[in-house]
Amino acid sequence: MSVAVAQTPPPAAQPPFAVPPFKNLKVLPKDIGRAELLTNMKFFAQSLGVRCTYCHVGTEGQPLSTFDFASDAKDHKKIARDMMRLAQHINTEHLPAITGLPDAKVTCFTCHRGSTKPATEIPPPVQAAPAAPAAPPAKTERGTG
Ligand code: HEC
Ligand code: HEC
Repeated sequence: MSVAVAQTPPPAAQPPFAVPPFKNLKVLPKDIGRAELLTNMKFFAQSLGVRCTYCHVGTEGQPLSTFDFASDAKDHKKIARDMMRLAQHINTEHLPAITGLPDAKVTCFTCHRGSTKPATEIPPPVQAAPAAPAAPPAKTERGTG
């Protein structure tokens, strides 16, 4: 007995983007695959709470195929590359030696937590919701004269 296989129609053809070989990788392995590269990029974006255009040349709302991902025109991309080196350095030179744990590591998220500006101060305690207003004082009967 044969089982009918539902054929999902192919998604509307999107022009390809982020297709290897990548042209301008200086920290990631030059032969990294597309899926792994994009996993890294989504991790960057989510860790900082930003979109691709924070680091890459392109217009928000336009297809990603129109973006120039290889360009280094945006300073944030260059800073991100240095941040990758910073994290690699901490992870290879310092954390395993200090902790004795070979897998101890920091990532973008360890510091950034969804923000471009990692917090250095402990946030103030969350204020309790203001108490409901006290019932108005009962009217006192006073003689008027
Ligand atoms: C916080 C900055 C940042 C964000 C956000 C970011 N990227 Fe990147 N992206 C980089 C850096 C840095 C490189 C280069 C890495 C290197 O030199 O090894 C890069 C490289 C790339 C490349 C390779 C380009 C080439 O040919 O060399 C592609 C494709 C790419 N990013 C796609 C994306 C997409 C898609 C998004 C959004 C989901 C995104 N990036 C979000 C920083 C970022
Ligand atoms: C050890 C902590 C730490 C790690 C890990 C880290 N960052 Fe940062 N990052 C910082 C600090 C601190 C700043 C300076 C923020 C400020 O201007 O107040 C910063 C700034 C940045 C900026 C510039 C933000 C701006 O507003 O100009 C980018 C982009 C960035 N980081 C990307 C990354 C990426 C991508 C990663 C992961 C590869 C990463 N960072 C990992 C601590 C870290």
